[in-house]
Amino acid sequence: MTPAALSLYVHWPFCKAKCPYCDFNSHVPTDAVDDARWRAALGAELAHFAAETEGRKLVSIFFGGGTPSLMHPETVGALIADAKRYWQADDLEVTLEANPTSAEAGKFHAFAAAGVNRLSLGIQALDDKPLKFLGREHSAKEAEAAITIAKGAFPAFSFDLIYARPGQTEESWVSEMERAFQFSPPHLSLYQLSIEPGTDFYRNDIPAAAEDPAADLFQATQERAAAAGLAAYEISNHARGGAQCRHNVAIWQGGDYAGIGPGAHGRLTSGVGTDALFQVYDPGRWLADVEKTGHGTAKRRPLDSAERRQEKIMTGLRLSAGIDADLARTLPRDVVHEMIGGGFLELDGRGLRATPRGRPLLNAVLAKLLAD
Ligand SMILES: C[S@@+](CC[C@H](N)C(=O)[O-])C[C@H]1O[C@@H](n2cnc3c(N)ncnc32)[C@H](O)[C@@H]1O
Ligand code: SF4
Repeated sequence: MTPAALSLYVHWPFCKAKCPYCDFNSHVPTDAVDDARWRAALGAELAHFAAETEGRKLVSIFFGGGTPSLMHPETVGALIADAKRYWQADDLEVTLEANPTSAEAGKFHAFAAAGVNRLSLGIQALDDKPLKFLGREHSAKEAEAAITIAKGAFPAFSFDLIYARPGQTEESWVSEMERAFQFSPPHLSLYQLSIEPGTDFYRNDIPAAAEDPAADLFQATQERAAAAGLAAYEISNHARGGAQCRHNVAIWQGGDYAGIGPGAHGRLTSGVGTDALFQVYDPGRWLADVEKTGHGTAKRRPLDSAERRQEKIMTGLRLSAGIDADLARTLPRDVVHEMIGGGFLELDGRGLRATPRGRPLLNAVLAKLLAD
């Protein structure tokens, strides 16, 4: 059966500077970005996927990156307008990831006028010293100003913070969180710093937090955020009732999405099953391919039912709500009961979910559940 709802991901791969912790498909362009070419190419790829999914209900658009706040608001507006023509889109959440430099914050009202109704700000830290360590282009003062502008310009907003930074104590993280809560965000993403191969932090042997302090910081994050009304609905994502990121929840629940732009992924379901799609990763090659053929799909393959089941379990268990009872019944009973006994999972009529104890250990829990 074809799923009714569809989400759209748009990848903008450019940044002002490459942050030393970041392994996303993000690049500092050597020449000025030719906005007209990029707008035309993203529009062409959008039309390409619209032809295949015509008439479906679009519930969300997510402009991610890279740094989509470097896009021209007219480009963002043109893509939103195209999407509204191609799909049924009478109730659409449109999120844009933004960096909080003053130049970008100056464009927030223009993004709102273009149709963005949810801003996700990459604040990362609320003090200048860690911002410098993280290689960020903004100051703490600019971060606070950008949050205030976002609050006034968009019906919904969120911001990201990175914790478990080297040398960060639980006390200082808790006090940074308390300052974050004072902005009354409806949504917060609180990520533990991970050291990814290929990044400057990895090359320079910056250490990730050791297991025990990291677990304590995670626990403190869960408790303090929940006490501030921002309970976790996913490992790193917190929201007040109803303010969850619709886009990510739809994807974690196994919903269909079209991904446009370099390196974007997609999942599209038809009468015969679900395909996984991968767009060309390199921005220059993606642009050339789209200009030549109308799309930049590097690979497309059908997922078999075992793969599909596995990915639904892996993403579904990230959510505090967990997976439904039917999907849970496909898991080996003895392993599920062992995990319940250990306090890592809980099962009831609604389904199976990770407990607060199991959530920080989810990768290990999944490895056991999905072994063989
Ligand atoms: C696509 S990125 C950032 C979007 C935007 N360019 C920015 O920097 O704000 C999304 C988020 O992932 C988080 N992130 C990226 N790399 C990370 C890492 N190695 N460890 C923890 N969080 C990370 C950051 O909080 C970042 O805001
Ligand atoms: S964290 Fe954001 S700004 Fe920094 S390199 Fe990654 S995508 Fe670009």
